[in-house]
Amino acid sequence: MICFRLSLIILFFLKSSDFVSGQFHTATYSPDRHIEVHLITELNGEFTYKVIFKNKPVIHSSRLGFSLNKPQVDLTRFKIISTDTSSYNGTWKPVWGEVSEIKNRFNQVKIRLQDLNKTDIVVDLTFVVYNDGLAFRYEFPDQKAFKHFIIKEELTQFALAADNKTFWIPGDYDTNEYLYNTTLLSEIDAISAANKEKDIAVQSLIGPNAVQTPLMMKSPDNIYINIHEAALINYAAMHLVLDKSSNTFTSHLVPDVIGNKGYLETPAKTPWRTLIISDKAEDILSSKMILNLNEPSKIENTDWIKPQKFIGVWWEMHIGKGSWDLASGKHAANTENVKKYINFAAKHGFDGVLVEGWNQGWEDWFGNWKEDVFDFVTPYPDYDMGAITNYADNKGLKIIMHHETSGSATNYERRLDDAFKYMVKNKINTVKTGYVGKIIPRGEYHDGQWMNNHYLRVAAKAAEYKIMIEAHEPSRPTGLHRTYPNWLANEAARGNEFNNAPSLGITPEHETILPFTRLIGGPMDYTPGLFHFKLNQFDSARKTKVRTTLAKQLALYVTMYSPLQMAGDLPENYEVYPDAFQFIVDVPVDWDDTKILEAEPGDFLTIARREKGKENWYIGGITDENSRISRIKLDFLDMNKQYIATIYKDASNADWDKHPEAYVIEEKIVSTKSELEIVLAKGGGFAISIKKNEK
Ligand code: NOJ
Ligand code: CA
Repeated sequence: MICFRLSLIILFFLKSSDFVSGQFHTATYSPDRHIEVHLITELNGEFTYKVIFKNKPVIHSSRLGFSLNKPQVDLTRFKIISTDTSSYNGTWKPVWGEVSEIKNRFNQVKIRLQDLNKTDIVVDLTFVVYNDGLAFRYEFPDQKAFKHFIIKEELTQFALAADNKTFWIPGDYDTNEYLYNTTLLSEIDAISAANKEKDIAVQSLIGPNAVQTPLMMKSPDNIYINIHEAALINYAAMHLVLDKSSNTFTSHLVPDVIGNKGYLETPAKTPWRTLIISDKAEDILSSKMILNLNEPSKIENTDWIKPQKFIGVWWEMHIGKGSWDLASGKHAANTENVKKYINFAAKHGFDGVLVEGWNQGWEDWFGNWKEDVFDFVTPYPDYDMGAITNYADNKGLKIIMHHETSGSATNYERRLDDAFKYMVKNKINTVKTGYVGKIIPRGEYHDGQWMNNHYLRVAAKAAEYKIMIEAHEPSRPTGLHRTYPNWLANEAARGNEFNNAPSLGITPEHETILPFTRLIGGPMDYTPGLFHFKLNQFDSARKTKVRTTLAKQLALYVTMYSPLQMAGDLPENYEVYPDAFQFIVDVPVDWDDTKILEAEPGDFLTIARREKGKENWYIGGITDENSRISRIKLDFLDMNKQYIATIYKDASNADWDKHPEAYVIEEKIVSTKSELEIVLAKGGGFAISIKKNEK
């Protein structure tokens, strides 16, 4: 109530005279009053915000503003024109997701600011405060003498209250496929970290103190803080540059090829700048704030959008059994081989088979910077598209299309309608896109405004053709899957396939960090389910290996949320462990409910999810390089019902390095009163399916 009274007084005051700098202060509280956001104009006219959580400072006074190239002006000193408060409390149902219903409840303050530089430019700032965090965005409303403008830089600051423990990857305009670093803010050294990365196709580093979002932190007094953005539309991705003397991050937008950061026309708005805050790590993972901040679905009829589990003619190329190109003499995407995958997929109830290397162009696709490598409609002569899609159709599953653009996004846009028509003609309704390499011809960056618009144009165009998509190598997601639910997943981080990269690969803790970082923006196509750990199966020179246990690969189907889950390994590798493979066969890809049972970024997490429309539960638990004991209560099960739990766990001699494939499977009758104690090996995990006991 206090905040409403305060705001009303200010509104009254503003009507009598424009509010001048140095005198304005308003506070907005989360509905549970744990989070408070103070907006203040300083004596020099700067407009700042600060954030307090349970009476502890999280963000000290931080400046807001812009620097423009056209008109050339810094918008950093303002007078207040008006202020307006409101609240919202509602629920909505996602088309697919971790839960069937999402609560959306916040208090809002909207402030109209006017530039003090005599440009008279008007900027609206909206702050929304939820129980799980807060967000703010700038809007440039329609106004006289200000229509088209060019952003030089956004000047948003995040002055952290302490030298927090931070989970970060280097700021880079082109890639997010880095391994995470865990250091104090003061120890961030992005250039040294990036220099260790030998397996990344293109790097466009920003500087030693620049990091990417979602950025996860833990303060010395155990407050978990996640900084990201929501609804990245017609704007560049925001990276953050740290001033170590004050623990202050300033936004750093990804430029275009000539250095400008955005071309906008009023009315325009920025994405939301988000801070998810809690004293429980579990709350960070269950936050739905990013989704709440995105617009509802623009697709009216969503009946054709389906979560999917698939296998692929894919890993065999990565580990050297086959190849994408025909000239190599071991072209994997040939009719006969693809039919074998279809048979395996049909036998085990998968929804689809991804086929990479089906189309002409792979002889000369990487690193040559040619625009016209692929046309997306011409199969290799040994790939009989019609026969294959009919074969799949008869077995009740679908081929998943692959469009590798090799960074030639303009070529892809020119050919997009034909490519999608070709898919529809061949009864294919899901596509994996890819953007390996530099973006040509103009040299835009993967994370810049132009490419962000491109990813969205592709998703919107795909929806017109009732096509679902997932993108590899895009900028990291910001919850746009609420608005375009046909955009099922993205890579946009280091996925399981990096186990095959010779230098750093993937460390056992990586999967305990991703849910707190990359997945905060949306589902990831992590491609779990690798069952063969030494990757020299077809190429004896290969030194790489998967750095988890087998049980942990199963757990990832639950801990790494996605409505599009791949079983990454080869059919013949699954046939070695049919009893463990059963978990992959059973695990659903759409959920009614999710409980985060325990979590600590960089160390461990355990998640339970209830299958959509059913009473079955699935649990995944993982650890980092340390072995641990997980004790979990099944008190989320229905009272008065008995269930059978099938537990897939590390054997006592299991260890990611020496015995990754050592697992045991146990069955147990369980109920809401049960408590389980499970030992996880180093780099290990466990997976449980809990089904109603019909006996
Ligand atoms: C990189 C993608 O991440 C990978 O999954 C794909 O197989 C290759 N590009 C080829 O497109
Ligand atoms: Ca750790």
